[in-house]
Amino acid sequence: MNILESTVKVQHTSQSRLHQVDMNHIPFGKIFSDHMVVAHYRNGKWEQPEIVPYGPLALTPAVSSLNYGQSVFEGMKAFRSIDGEPLLFRPQENFRRINRSAARLCMPQIPEDLFMDSLRELIRLDEKWIPTKEQGSLYIRPLYFATDEFIGVKASESYVLTMFTCPVGPYYSEPVSLLASKEFIRAAIGGTGAAKAAGNYASAMLPDKLAKAKGYNNVLWLDAQHHHYVEECGTMNIFFVIDGVVITPSLTGTILQGITRNSALKVLRQSGYQVEERPISIYEVQAAYYDGRLQEAFGAGTAATISHIAKIGFAGEDMILPEVEDRKVGPWLGGKLERIKFGIDEDPYGWVVKA
Ligand code: COI
Repeated sequence: MNILESTVKVQHTSQSRLHQVDMNHIPFGKIFSDHMVVAHYRNGKWEQPEIVPYGPLALTPAVSSLNYGQSVFEGMKAFRSIDGEPLLFRPQENFRRINRSAARLCMPQIPEDLFMDSLRELIRLDEKWIPTKEQGSLYIRPLYFATDEFIGVKASESYVLTMFTCPVGPYYSEPVSLLASKEFIRAAIGGTGAAKAAGNYASAMLPDKLAKAKGYNNVLWLDAQHHHYVEECGTMNIFFVIDGVVITPSLTGTILQGITRNSALKVLRQSGYQVEERPISIYEVQAAYYDGRLQEAFGAGTAATISHIAKIGFAGEDMILPEVEDRKVGPWLGGKLERIKFGIDEDPYGWVVKA
C-alpha cells in the first residue's frame, strides 16, 4: 500500500461524466469533474480526508461560514504536458497561502500532508479531466470553511476543507478594461486584503457590477487611505510598463500575495528586465500616459494568467493602451510562464511538479 492509499480514503464515482464535456468549448468554472476531497476538522483534530463523487454537501443554514464568512479558498491549476503528463505549478505556495489566510480568519492550520496527499490523489483520480494545452487546464479550488451550527459570533470549532476541480479555457477572451474607483475600496491596512478570504470577493461585487454597467470589465482598486495608490485589478495583481521599467505595487498587507505575481517578478528579473515593486499612484500612471510613456499594463492571476489591459478609466477619461501586438513585456511574459507550466521550457526554479 502506498502512502496516498493509506492516508486518503477514496469512494469512486459509479459513472464518469467526462464523456458529456466538450473540452474544445469549456466555459470558465461551470463544469466540475467527477470527484472532490472532503476533510473534516472536528474535536480539535483533522480526520482522515476522503475523496467522494462531486456533489452537494449537507449543511444547515446555521453554519457559521454561511452566516459570518469564515471561509478562505485557493486557486491553482493542473496542466497536461505535451507528453501527456499531469503537472502542478507551485502547489506548495497555495498550501502556504491557504494557511496564512486561515490564520487571519482564526481557523486551524491545515497539515501539509493532508493538503498535498489529498490534492495529488484527486488529480490522479480525475487525471483524464485535464484538458490538453490547446484546450486549457484543470482549475483546482481548495475551499476551507467553518461548519459549527451556531449563530453566536465566534470562531468555529469545526471546519471542512474541500477541493474540487473544473476543466477551464481562458478566463478572459479579450484584453480587459478597468475603471479606477475612488468610491469603493477592496481592503484597508489591518483588514483581510492579503488573505484569500471569501468575503473580499463578496464586497467587490457591487463595485464590479457598477463598473460593468459603465462598460468596463473590472475595477482598478485604489488604496483605502489616500485613494490614489494602485493595489489590484478585478481579481488580479497589476503590472505597468513605463519607460521600459516593469512596475507593480509593493505588498503592503492589503494586496494578495499572488503566486503568478511572484512568478512573473522572478522570471522578469532573471531575464534582465528592470523591475520595481513600489507604491504607484494612479496620477503617476496618468502622467505617464499623457507623456506617451505608459507602454503596457497587465493583470496577473492563476485563473486569468497574464491578462492584457486595454483601457483604464479614471476621473472621467479613458487611458487607451497600445494594441497587444505592439507590446513586448506582457506577451513575452505570458508565453514564457505558459511554456514553463506546460513543461516546454526549462524550469530553473523547480516550480513544476508531477501531479
Ligand atoms: C484565481 O486567480 O485563482 C482567483 O482566485 C480568481 C478567481 C476568483 C476566479
